[in-house]
Amino acid sequence: MHLKTPRSGEFLLLLETGKQTMKELDEIKEELKIDLNAVATPEGLDLIDTKFLGKQGKINQLFKTLPIKTDPKLGKQINDLKKDIEAQIAEKLDYILNSSKTATFDVTTPGKEQAEGSLHLITQAIAEIESIFLRLGFVRRRYPEVETDWYYAEGLNIPKDHPARDDQETFYVGDNTVLTAHTSNGQLREMELKKSPPIKMINIGKTYRRQIDATHTPMFHQFEGLVVDKDINITHLLGVTEYFAKAYFGQDRHTRLRPHHFQFTEPSFEIDITCEVCSGTGQVDKQNCKVCKSGWLELGGAGMVHPNVIKNGGLNPEECSGFAFGWGVERVLMMKTGLPDLRMIYSDDIRFLNQF
Ligand code: DAH
Repeated sequence: MHLKTPRSGEFLLLLETGKQTMKELDEIKEELKIDLNAVATPEGLDLIDTKFLGKQGKINQLFKTLPIKTDPKLGKQINDLKKDIEAQIAEKLDYILNSSKTATFDVTTPGKEQAEGSLHLITQAIAEIESIFLRLGFVRRRYPEVETDWYYAEGLNIPKDHPARDDQETFYVGDNTVLTAHTSNGQLREMELKKSPPIKMINIGKTYRRQIDATHTPMFHQFEGLVVDKDINITHLLGVTEYFAKAYFGQDRHTRLRPHHFQFTEPSFEIDITCEVCSGTGQVDKQNCKVCKSGWLELGGAGMVHPNVIKNGGLNPEECSGFAFGWGVERVLMMKTGLPDLRMIYSDDIRFLNQF
């Protein structure tokens, strides 16, 4: 009977072939690595595919030349290598296709035009107002919009149940808390902060009232000036008012004081400014000016700070005095631009907003 067991010589031969095969597999892996590193196109990758996996390719050559039948392990090794090569080629193809997508981006294509934004016109107006007062040595402040009754009213010499409270259409958040209907709450807070004169602040902030029509919105802005020092008098108020009117509206504008009443100032005034349309004459072509009727437009309230308010701010009214004013940002903006309706400012109509 013929035994199929290899003779000792054949064993040796098989061992030798095994080593040889391992070497060849390693060489193929190395060669593939070099080829894949160098290739940059799908066509190039096709050539690599043919070289290693094609009919005449290296893997098939191995199958043909090696004694697979006598060594089943060898067959498995070559098969594993084949799968590995397929996977590496597929991965590289993926990479080439993806990177070619970015490579086809045409850098000379004109970009999509981006809509250019700008600061909202109220923001612009606030910046302009602020810069005018900074030139006069005022300090810009922001004080709470949600405020206690003390800072908002009682400390400003407006007792509870006083009729002056009715004017302000206040939003009450709680019994003792409001959304500020004016920026005057900043007066007491500034005096408390500084503790002693000189004080020269411009508090610009949001204010809220239950109102809406062509010249009123529930939220609007005010700028509140407060100056406290030794011997401050009405001429200081007049000087600052005149300076602001000329800087903001134009050098040909003038201001005047008109007696009025506020609880927190004594004496109190309304400030008027000459109308641009009729230059303060009240007449256009021998007709009454349609914008102002009298030659004057109302800017807002002002006055000499009431001694009680100075006291409530923690200062001594025997030693110092002050003036204050509170004017509307939207109001001065409308006076300057001739906007007919305040609500336009808070509309989202780009055609309107783009003009500023
Ligand atoms: N707080 C007043 C208002 O909103 C405006 C005002 C008047 C402010 C006189 C002042 C002032 O500082 O002195 O109607």
